[in-house]
Amino acid sequence: MTTLVIGGTGTVGSTVARDLATAGRPVRVMTRSPDKIASLPEGVEGVVGDLDRPDTLGPAFVGVSALFLVTPLGAAETTAGLAAVEAARTAKVERIVYMTVHKLTAGAHIPHFGAKLPVVEAIERSGLPFTVIAPNNFFQNDLWLKDAILQFGVYPQPLGDVGLSRIDVRDIAAASVTALTEPGHDGKTYPLVGPEAWNGPETAEAWSRALGRTIRYGGNDLDAWSAQVSAMMPPWLVHDLRIMYQWQQEEGQIATPDDLAACTAILKRQPRSYEDFVAETVKAWT
Ligand SMILES: NC(=O)c1ccc[n+]([C@@H]2O[C@H](COP(=O)([O-])OP(=O)(O)OC[C@H]3O[C@@H](n4cnc5c(N)ncnc54)[C@H](OP(=O)(O)O)[C@@H]3O)[C@@H](O)[C@H]2O)c1
Repeated sequence: MTTLVIGGTGTVGSTVARDLATAGRPVRVMTRSPDKIASLPEGVEGVVGDLDRPDTLGPAFVGVSALFLVTPLGAAETTAGLAAVEAARTAKVERIVYMTVHKLTAGAHIPHFGAKLPVVEAIERSGLPFTVIAPNNFFQNDLWLKDAILQFGVYPQPLGDVGLSRIDVRDIAAASVTALTEPGHDGKTYPLVGPEAWNGPETAEAWSRALGRTIRYGGNDLDAWSAQVSAMMPPWLVHDLRIMYQWQQEEGQIATPDDLAACTAILKRQPRSYEDFVAETVKAWT
């Protein structure tokens, strides 16, 4: 009855694994790194496996009845996802919950969106019960921006002027645990979205209010953004994210009322608000 979490050392998967363990559910995290197994939380078993080496997946799936799947960004994302689906099919798992992204098809030209479409199709064709969760941009991405916000007074993510219905990772994990452990979610796709849409300047204003000083929006110039992040990110990731930001600036990534209703239904409550996340983060940072 074990749930295998692929991506269980990452932002979302680690929260899913922790929440499953807290609920007393047997959970196993797969990682490429034996060192990370030692620091998994209590109640979480670890196993070494690598989606780029499908021969390592069989042992990870022994005794597994459910799979939570995160596919890693990169040129091999589709192949990695297909390897996980094939291993799940071979192991005859009783449920797969796969994390994609909100408005996956509309953003299919973005490499890390399009890479997930064949994985969804393989899951649908596998005959295994499945649920797709499709989160918007994570609130917690902003934790990486601490120095820019606190030291330089700039909110640098070029989110544009239209807006995004961003979501708290804790809500993504809560919805995922529900889909993994409760009946009634087979064959469904859940957009996971926050209660309001926020554009770039409004996001900077939220940080300004919480910090009591001006945080400037870094602006929509994607040449300037690319030049700034090139020292920290590989070229393929700059290329991928730049296409995403261009799309978000042109079209936004805003939840429909139906999206929000579906998210609220699986959470059984309203999703967390961005302002609450910012207030909580400012408290932790200062
Ligand atoms: N950030 C956002 O706003 C956002 C929004 C919607 C959807 N998404 C999607 O979220 C996913 C990323 O999730 P995340 O941010 O929670 O992950 P993350 O923090 O980037 O962590 C990546 C995880 O993938 C694992 N991994 C990497 N390569 C692997 C491989 N070859 N075999 C097995 N495991 C591998 C890593 O495990 P080890 O290093 O321990 O092996 C780690 O657990 C992406 O698919 C992205 O498109 C992101």
